Amino acid sequence: MTKNEIILANKEFLYPSVFHYYKDPLVITRAKDQYVWDADGNQYLDFFGGIVTVSVGHCNDYVNGKIHEQVDKLQHVSTVFATEPQAALAKKIAEISPNGKLTKSFFTNSGTEANETAILTARCYTGSSEIVALRHSYHGRSSLTMTLSGQGSWRLGGITTPGIVHAVNAYCYRCPLGLTYPSCNVRCARDVEEVIKTTTSGRIAGFIAEPVQGVGGFVVPPREYFPIVADIVKKYGGVYISDEVQTAWGRTGGKWWGIEQWGVEPDIITSAKGLGNGLPIGLTLAKAQVADALKGATISTFGGNPITTTAAKAVIDFVEDHHLSINAAEVGAYLHEKFLELQAKHPLIGDVRGMGLMQAMELVEDRESRKPATAQTLAVMEAARENGILLGKGGLYGNVLRVTPPLNITKANVDEFARQLDASFVRSQATAAV
Ligand SMILES: Cc1ncc(COP(=O)(O)O)c(C=O)c1O
Repeated sequence: MTKNEIILANKEFLYPSVFHYYKDPLVITRAKDQYVWDADGNQYLDFFGGIVTVSVGHCNDYVNGKIHEQVDKLQHVSTVFATEPQAALAKKIAEISPNGKLTKSFFTNSGTEANETAILTARCYTGSSEIVALRHSYHGRSSLTMTLSGQGSWRLGGITTPGIVHAVNAYCYRCPLGLTYPSCNVRCARDVEEVIKTTTSGRIAGFIAEPVQGVGGFVVPPREYFPIVADIVKKYGGVYISDEVQTAWGRTGGKWWGIEQWGVEPDIITSAKGLGNGLPIGLTLAKAQVADALKGATISTFGGNPITTTAAKAVIDFVEDHHLSINAAEVGAYLHEKFLELQAKHPLIGDVRGMGLMQAMELVEDRESRKPATAQTLAVMEAARENGILLGKGGLYGNVLRVTPPLNITKANVDEFARQLDASFVRSQATAAV
């Protein structure tokens, strides 16, 4: 198919909800490591990694080697039979789980399913159904996980799942309580208790949050936030669910799991995305006594599939063997510095934040009012594409540039990216002035 045939077929035969970035959709035909190529042969430095998913580089040789071996050996038998790839992956994940305490895995195909399983587990374990989530969060696209999500634009079709309430998030740049850290005394964390007391029966099944809100625009809570919240959740009988669909596998730098950066030991962790480096896999990981409450007939036909679990085990081994969470910390800090330099140069950049190789810039019309610069964000995205770099967009107001390259990028890659991003800010403003 030609480029235009692909774009036309997308329009004609896919749901209109399958949207693409850019005015003129980018048709990608191949990828290797940190680069992708479009249908016209143009090369791009990919600093979004298929939405925080390509954790060890596109078509990673080691991971693909393991996949190729497995494809010709055993592709699928379902979980009614035992297979080595699923067993080996579950064992490895238990070993690297926070404090070695979360030892039971349930595999599915996506982050949405992972969160569905987590909520079901919490409900079975506690006998309660009420869940506290956070505003600006994103947890998936099923009825339940859309209800968990705290962004109106991602809650389609009329919300139908009762028993879910939302506390304010720890969004320091736009504090929902109008306060300033640290004099605020992390008042937002206490809102979780207020919400439990006023909008639930007082006995909750659990609390779910992303350590760093991903789709929400890489909102990083202060270090006191999650420990305070974890105590409140425990006090009201709930389990703590850490949605690590974006933050796991070393992404935040120096730790396997994002929540470890706050020193909190969750009861359940969910993940997906970077675990498969592009293959579809969802993980719900729980403490044994919590997982044991989910008894009876529930099955995911493709969960624990030999090929995806082989890929996932290879990803974890690759991250470990190449010390990529350390690389994420070091190169992530370097990327953060580069963003601060760009902020000093471009008034449009209101805030720079992130952890490890999960870095963002929030764009504002002026730094005083902090009015979201939504149109300008789109213009920078377009210019960045013209300049050969790919990055993501997010935030409730669509004004956050999200940057999540593979964990094995180098400082030289960051230099190139920052140079082109700088040029993209200049280019987008020059275009706006015409
Ligand atoms: C934090 C978080 N949770 C859950 C999901 C849902 O994952 P999936 O799209 O694989 O269903 C996402 C997807 O972006 C996510 O970022």
